[in-house]
Amino acid sequence: MRTLRSNEVFKPGAFPEHTYISRVSPEFSYTYEFRLSQALNTTGFLTSVIGPSKTGKTVLCEKVIEWDRIVSLSGSDFKNSQSFWTTVANKAGLSIEGEQTQISSIAGERVAGVTESKASSVKEKFLTGKDQVIEYFKENKLVLILDDFHYAPNELQLEIAQQLKDAIRKEFTSIVISLPHRADDAIRKNPDLSGRLSLINIEPWQTDALEKIAVTGFNALGVKVNPSLVEVLAAESLTSPQLMQSICLNLCLLLDIDNDAKIKEITEQNDLINAFKATTTNLPYKDVVKRLRSGPYTRGQKRKTFTLSDGTKSDIYDLLLKAIALDPPTTFIRLDELKERFDQILGDTPSKPDRNKIKSTIEQTQTIINTNGSIYQVFEWKDDVLYILEPLFLFYLRWGTHN
Ligand SMILES: Nc1ncnc2c1ncn2[C@@H]1O[C@H](COP(=O)(O)OP(=O)(O)OP(=O)(O)O)[C@@H](O)[C@H]1O
Ligand SMILES: [Mg+2]
Repeated sequence: MRTLRSNEVFKPGAFPEHTYISRVSPEFSYTYEFRLSQALNTTGFLTSVIGPSKTGKTVLCEKVIEWDRIVSLSGSDFKNSQSFWTTVANKAGLSIEGEQTQISSIAGERVAGVTESKASSVKEKFLTGKDQVIEYFKENKLVLILDDFHYAPNELQLEIAQQLKDAIRKEFTSIVISLPHRADDAIRKNPDLSGRLSLINIEPWQTDALEKIAVTGFNALGVKVNPSLVEVLAAESLTSPQLMQSICLNLCLLLDIDNDAKIKEITEQNDLINAFKATTTNLPYKDVVKRLRSGPYTRGQKRKTFTLSDGTKSDIYDLLLKAIALDPPTTFIRLDELKERFDQILGDTPSKPDRNKIKSTIEQTQTIINTNGSIYQVFEWKDDVLYILEPLFLFYLRWGTHN
């Protein structure tokens, strides 16, 4: 029997205690953990963590801050109908009463006996709901994590920033987490907060760090993995530690590593391929692929088809997805390279689409992306380069059964 089970080691959806990898932030040449703990120790500053989705922003906070000091709220928890501090207090399990709450009964008695003008000066000694929350956080060394800040209603983002600005001066500790380019204006571009922000930008994962997840995890399970296979695992995970965790977990489950103690080494590329396919079954891109592949509506007209080198037929929108899915998996593909990929797929077919045709096909597909919901935001076409925004989508294109 192994000492650990594979689902304790590989955790695609939670804090990975046994496979947590520390990375160095390229901006500062310190680890992100060191950087975050320094930021938290800078009183009077707000910490802003920004990074692409699923790069480990939440997990980083969980690594650095003890769990019983974290009060975590999502941007979507904030509603117009409730004040910021009421929402925070509720989450922290604190009940605050109205805007003005007295600190102690002594203060209350003093109020009772004074004239009105004096009463207003005494009132300053009263704690508002807000002050009460700030005091409570300070006393208990709590940290407010505002996760997925981009989900907070637009009209509330500035209000939240304003409240935080005031609170951090009173030594309230808070971290705001959001996606790049999404709603960071209220925080990072807010002149009121300039000079009071600790900025942490989480970079996409490089292959060496991704490899460490697999190596550390399989090592904890007492299983060796051939280094060339570890490279393949990292290449397929693109920039996503979560994808790496998922693939490794599926690999363990398919090989039944938990119940078969005889398995001491993984050497077969085929096992990896089965794990890739298994990993795609939970990905939500079936409809996205179907929609992108069908291209813009043709009003009944039939589209030209091309014969591929393997004898099958495709129209140009299907060809585009096939070209994106081709080896090597990469997060950006230039137009020239896409043209080469088209040529490779089409082999000897005469009248292959030229660069302009490919470009207009991508532009049409981009329009479909732009006019659909967030799950469709899978790539972006800019300056003749196609940027993959969602690594899981590319992985699905490569290994999913959508044909
Ligand atoms: N440092 C790490 N070491 C190992 N695995 C990690 C690390 N960071 C993240 N992961 C893996 O990626 C998963 C997603 O991480 P996390 O939820 O922190 O990302 P996120 O950036 O907060 O995502 P989102 O943008 O969706 O909020 C984790 O559950 C874990 O499996
Ligand atoms: Mg998160």
